Amino acid sequence: MKTTVIAIDGPAGSGKSTVSKIVAKKLGIANVDTGAMYRAITYKLLKSNISLDDLDAIKKVLDETKITFEQNENDFRMFIDGDDVSKKIRSEYISANVNIIAAIPEVRNKLREIQRSIGLKTSCVIEGRDITTVVFPDTKYKFYLDAPIEERVKRRYAELKQKGEEINFDSLKESIARRDKLDQTRGINPLRIDKDAIVINTMGLSAQQVAEKIIDYIKYIGQ
Ligand code: DC
Repeated sequence: MKTTVIAIDGPAGSGKSTVSKIVAKKLGIANVDTGAMYRAITYKLLKSNISLDDLDAIKKVLDETKITFEQNENDFRMFIDGDDVSKKIRSEYISANVNIIAAIPEVRNKLREIQRSIGLKTSCVIEGRDITTVVFPDTKYKFYLDAPIEERVKRRYAELKQKGEEINFDSLKESIARRDKLDQTRGINPLRIDKDAIVINTMGLSAQQVAEKIIDYIKYIGQ
């Protein structure tokens, strides 16, 4: 049976994660957060204490690592070798290092294959940075969410505050601007707007409103 894959890309704080969850729930399909996978690998590599220049050591860790996820109605949980790392991977320490790991071709190849195999087996909303361009270039449902950096920082700030993380607004802004730049200039699979993607500026819209727009487009595009 052919699956339906709704691909959503966009920069940090564009609203992708919240919107994807709502769309997946409304359509009754899975939601796959690929940023969580990059974060989980980052967590594992940082914990392994190997040098991030040592490609052989990285490959060895990648080969030995089991990356899985579980999803229920409201939750997307990431597991590394059976350990639930969902909370740990959201720290600013991981955010500050994830781009180094996400620029390693071996890491991208491994995660891309995992992501493709999920989409081949399961209908899903799958969000990240290279989903519309590299992971599922042939799906007809492609979206790119964007918002001005001030707005994206405000959202991320509120999110982290709510989780009880101590965070300085200006350093968060710096970290997001840095991450934008690294995501967009990465030599391999950078964040870019796919020529067939529908671009939605989420500024001033609630996640619910963005999700409704996406669902309207999906209906419009048809089967
Ligand atoms: O969506 P996020 O902020 O949790 O993603 C964390 C980082 O992972 C992001 O800055 C870049 C990387 N990433 C990627 O390179 N490709 C993806 N498909 C998803 C995330």
